Amino acid sequence: MDSTLSSKSTSLVGHIRIPGDKSISHRALMLGAIAEGETLIYGLLNSADVFCTATALKNMGVGVSNRQDGSWSIQGVGSQGLQSPKSFLDMGNSGTSVRLLMGLIAGYDISAELKGDASLSKRPMNRVIDPLTQMGAIFKTHEKGYLPLKIQGISELSSIRYQLPMASAQVKSAILLAGLRAKGTTHVIELEKTRDYTETMMRTFGAHVETDGLEISLEGGQVLQGCAIDVPADPSSAAFPIVAALLCEGSELTLNNIGINERRFGLYETLLEMGADITFKNKRTQGGEPVSDLVIKGSALKAVTVPAERVVSMIDEFPILAIAAACAEGTTTMSGLAELRVKESDRLAVMAKGLIASGVKLEEGHDTLTIYGTGHPPSGGAFIETALDHRIAMSFLVLGLVTNEPITIDDATPIRTSFPNFIESMNDIGAEFQPTNKTQSDSIDLSHDIVRHL
Ligand code: S3P
Repeated sequence: MDSTLSSKSTSLVGHIRIPGDKSISHRALMLGAIAEGETLIYGLLNSADVFCTATALKNMGVGVSNRQDGSWSIQGVGSQGLQSPKSFLDMGNSGTSVRLLMGLIAGYDISAELKGDASLSKRPMNRVIDPLTQMGAIFKTHEKGYLPLKIQGISELSSIRYQLPMASAQVKSAILLAGLRAKGTTHVIELEKTRDYTETMMRTFGAHVETDGLEISLEGGQVLQGCAIDVPADPSSAAFPIVAALLCEGSELTLNNIGINERRFGLYETLLEMGADITFKNKRTQGGEPVSDLVIKGSALKAVTVPAERVVSMIDEFPILAIAAACAEGTTTMSGLAELRVKESDRLAVMAKGLIASGVKLEEGHDTLTIYGTGHPPSGGAFIETALDHRIAMSFLVLGLVTNEPITIDDATPIRTSFPNFIESMNDIGAEFQPTNKTQSDSIDLSHDIVRHL
């Protein structure tokens, strides 16, 4: 455990380097792994989650090495195929690693055992197991389909036509990865348009993938060719310093090279509606993805209504949006949040509990969250249980920068899964984050003051 205290800071001024996009990093490693020849990845996210993917691929016979210039070289197995790993593949905290790797492994005559940490072992895997089983892969799981599990792939997978029951880029991607190895054409029909990095990157590796509205189709048996991938900075990681700068009066922060793919843009759209002063400069395309440099200035935020249709484009951003809403003036409502309950933690419940403890008035519904902002930061003074969730941890550290009483989070360790230098980078621009021995019993309890409907 790595308890960390966040105290009131002055304005945040300067520049932070945001690490590489997590979703793109996982996909670059996996597609590079099964391609013919070498793939070079520039700007790969060097974080715990991405290392889980890289280590798993190494254990299945893929050459993965770090080059002197900081880029990564992947020696794809191509027609030789993946090998059965000799020991458990440890997926740590990473949902993207486990779900996409299941799709990758499904199409080879190999077997693998996968395990994860306490958080990942409570997350649903049946959403991937069901379609992959229909394609011919065989799974042995814990009851309810949780990790640890064993997968036996087969080189003669059948193609399927699959309507996704939920909006999930991970499930879509797992089926497409398996579809690359299936007989015939695999069709995936989305419920809503989720991030499309798998489709885009498969094309960069030379595959033919068709998109027609919500339907993605891909013919099996296509061979990928190694290539160079340039990973932009992760808009979901950028969200934390952005909201911090908006909340701390007088701030001026610059972030370069941030991915602004429209399927990830929901938080930015929402913050602009709230009155955020964010300037998008130098918009351009990098490695096939739209990117921009951002200048963020401290702003007085007002409440907003987030429509359910926007959720998919900001699925990872609700913890930090809730912090912004808690400091904004007026009532913010968010709906369509059911998927938040199966992320690294039950993010709706964990955010509501932490915000209440920090002095925020709110109502938590089954898939809604209503936050009653006052236009001023709440009192703070809370001890936050982050439930092994990096985004909960970073969100409450940001809140502590503006509350009167400091906020303590129980464990900052999970932040290394997506943004390893978060604490140091933020402290460099003026944040007040420091290690502490403070525990739950040292904090004040404000929960009597709160309306909460479950
Ligand atoms: C991701 C998809 C999303 C997102 C996760 C990364 C991806 O998950 O929350 O952080 O890389 O495909 P779901 O597919 O479960 O919505």
